[in-house]
Amino acid sequence: MNIEISDLHFTYPSGVQALRGISLTIEAGEQVGIVGQNGAGKTTLVRHLNGLLHPTAGEVKIGDWDTRKYSVAKLAARVGYVFQNPDDQLFSRDVRTEVAFGPKNLGYPKEQVEALVSEALEMTELADKTEANPYDLSPTWRKMVAIASVIAMDTPIVIFDEPTTGQDAASVARIANVIRVLRERGKTVITITHDIDFCAENFERVIAMSQGRILLDGKANDVLGQEEILAATYVDPPQLARLGRRLGFKETVRNEEEFLAALKNMSA
Ligand SMILES: Nc1ncnc2c1ncn2[C@@H]1O[C@H](COP(=O)(O)OP(=O)(O)O)[C@@H](O)[C@H]1O
Ligand SMILES: [Mg+2]
Repeated sequence: MNIEISDLHFTYPSGVQALRGISLTIEAGEQVGIVGQNGAGKTTLVRHLNGLLHPTAGEVKIGDWDTRKYSVAKLAARVGYVFQNPDDQLFSRDVRTEVAFGPKNLGYPKEQVEALVSEALEMTELADKTEANPYDLSPTWRKMVAIASVIAMDTPIVIFDEPTTGQDAASVARIANVIRVLRERGKTVITITHDIDFCAENFERVIAMSQGRILLDGKANDVLGQEEILAATYVDPPQLARLGRRLGFKETVRNEEEFLAALKNMSA
């Protein structure tokens, strides 16, 4: 299911012009990282995908659905959105009920709901916390509950808004694993992140935003190699890319494998 955004503008009632002409196609199964400084419009953009916000001008289509013509409840069958702050998302008294809410609400049969919930709990390593009240869990595990409750809905498109902010290394690895599994299942994954290393390691395509516009959009290596342009949006290239540049690599490297391959090439 493709996402098609045409000349999207959005102005908040306060008068802030948060999006100033965004055009973008994201194909089914793509893995996209969105970077850019605070206030660039990243969250405003993704909130258009599940109908939480509607364009001031322009159009957003999810498959053949114009988001203006479908309710948030309807769009929930196509687009899952993991909020940046789990406290804005969670409301149930125990983890299992929370995770089951979405798929139940979409009207899936009971057996399917149970299978989706078990699988989501397994993927997020929450299987031993199903009876816990989400509010008694650490912020790290509350984040996993928020993720589980979205992936249990089995939507073709999944959006993560700053998933790694405030998470420890184990949790970041867990989130990367969830994204890997979603990729293997052919889901479209769109992730807003400040963590440029996380972005480089997990996404093939990277979009850099600044002041309500798209500054760069392309293969992660190409985008993350544009040091001067990224500097304008206060995004540093990944550490390995910077180190590679200082070592004189011709190519921009994104991860350890590419770094080691380039190093080998140099000494060959
Ligand atoms: N609810 C809101 N009401 C008014 N202005 C907002 C609201 N949310 C965000 N903004 C403003 O819109 C712009 C884009 O914000 P946002 O989409 O949250 O950026 P990002 O996610 O890239 O940090 C910023 O100037 C921000 O202050
Ligand atoms: Mg944001």
